[in-house]
Amino acid sequence: MAINNIYLQNEEISIEVNNLWKIFGDNVEKVLDSDTQFDGKTDILEKTGCVLAIKDVSFQVHRGEIFVLMGLSGSGKSTLVRCILRLIEPTAGKILINGENVCDCTAQQLTELRRHTISMVFQYFGLLPHRNILQNVAYGLKIRGMAKSKREAKAQEMIELVGLKGWESYLPSALSGGMQQRVGIARALSTDPEMLIMDEPFSGLDPLIRRQMQDELLDIQEKVHKTILFVTHDLHEALKLGNRIAIMKDGEIIQIGDPEEVITAPSDGYVREFVQDASPAKVLTAKRIMEQPNVLLYEWQGPKTAIHILESTELDNAFVLGRGSKFRGLVTVERLLEIIKGGGKSIMNALEPDLLRCTSDTIVEDLFPLAVSTRHPIPVVDDDGKFLGEIHTSTILGSMIQDKETELGD
Ligand SMILES: Nc1ncnc2c1ncn2[C@@H]1O[C@H](COP(=O)(O)OP(=O)(O)OP(=O)(O)O)[C@@H](O)[C@H]1O
Ligand SMILES: [Mg+2]
Repeated sequence: MAINNIYLQNEEISIEVNNLWKIFGDNVEKVLDSDTQFDGKTDILEKTGCVLAIKDVSFQVHRGEIFVLMGLSGSGKSTLVRCILRLIEPTAGKILINGENVCDCTAQQLTELRRHTISMVFQYFGLLPHRNILQNVAYGLKIRGMAKSKREAKAQEMIELVGLKGWESYLPSALSGGMQQRVGIARALSTDPEMLIMDEPFSGLDPLIRRQMQDELLDIQEKVHKTILFVTHDLHEALKLGNRIAIMKDGEIIQIGDPEEVITAPSDGYVREFVQDASPAKVLTAKRIMEQPNVLLYEWQGPKTAIHILESTELDNAFVLGRGSKFRGLVTVERLLEIIKGGGKSIMNALEPDLLRCTSDTIVEDLFPLAVSTRHPIPVVDDDGKFLGEIHTSTILGSMIQDKETELGD
């Protein structure tokens, strides 16, 4: 399923980080002093004893998107997301949540922010071991002062949302890692926060469960449309979940883009190395590889006109459209000749049956099975049935070859 289907480009900004710095240590001024030149993180540590964790980071998270922060261990991801909630105090810079500067918040405002606006999901689920699943999920509502029956009803709803119905009265220790993480997600969603920050939530799970959890997160997101800041060090996870991805290295963001941009135009060697094992076919969508046909036929044209057009362009098939570019199907010269022989007047009688089609969001990888089962180009059609373009089998094969080259490190 393509999450991109549900994320409609929204320019409204939920989280904005401007020129954020975080330096751990006692000699912070020395690091920020513009007269002193340092040669990277190690040099700073040696000369000042400080750890430069976040270096002048700026980005924006749009409302309703899944924004992924990706980078190797130690690149500063956790520090960055913790700064956003001020679980760690930033050294310099600005953090705006819905336009409000978090750095100016009082302790009480911060508590409000963490209880109502943004929930956090961690790698280690942090469930309360002596409370059952229902109580764990309802916990955030309890500290908000919600009455028992009301909070339990809400918790029940969230437990069902994450697929754990029937487990309400069990203790966390009776659940597998994947199930416990679902409880963590249910708990984070129970307060109906506007935003979720998820710091490597699936990293502790084995690969199969991890993929299931990713699918479930996408399913849940389709229902709840939250703004999600998701941290991972796994590129495939980033490419699967992210509407946009920011790549971090040594405390800096070195590239921000959608999955296609990151994979097709890596900004430097570091990103290229990261994406080398990722296959474009998993990321590229039909929109990216579709073409416009040289010839289109229209439903009101007669079979003889159609034959004439096809023969004069040396084609043996073409798509047929109706008014407003509505997609109708595909006709071949062979079928048209049969229709003419039988005295048929409409090219609609010559349409190929059971024609396969895709949408502009279809991932190229999902086109492979379509490509092997048809001799014809694959039409790309939007949700209203409008024709957008066509994809030739050779183009799909081309993207596989590019795939191989990437694997070989070309
Ligand atoms: N409390 C601290 N004191 C000193 N240095 C710290 C502290 N917390 C983090 N750091 C340093 O900040 C840098 C960034 O760490 P951070 O935990 O944010 O990385 P990360 O990208 O989340 O890594 P991981 O993938 O392993 O979770 C590291 O060099 C780390 O050693
Ligand atoms: Mg971390």
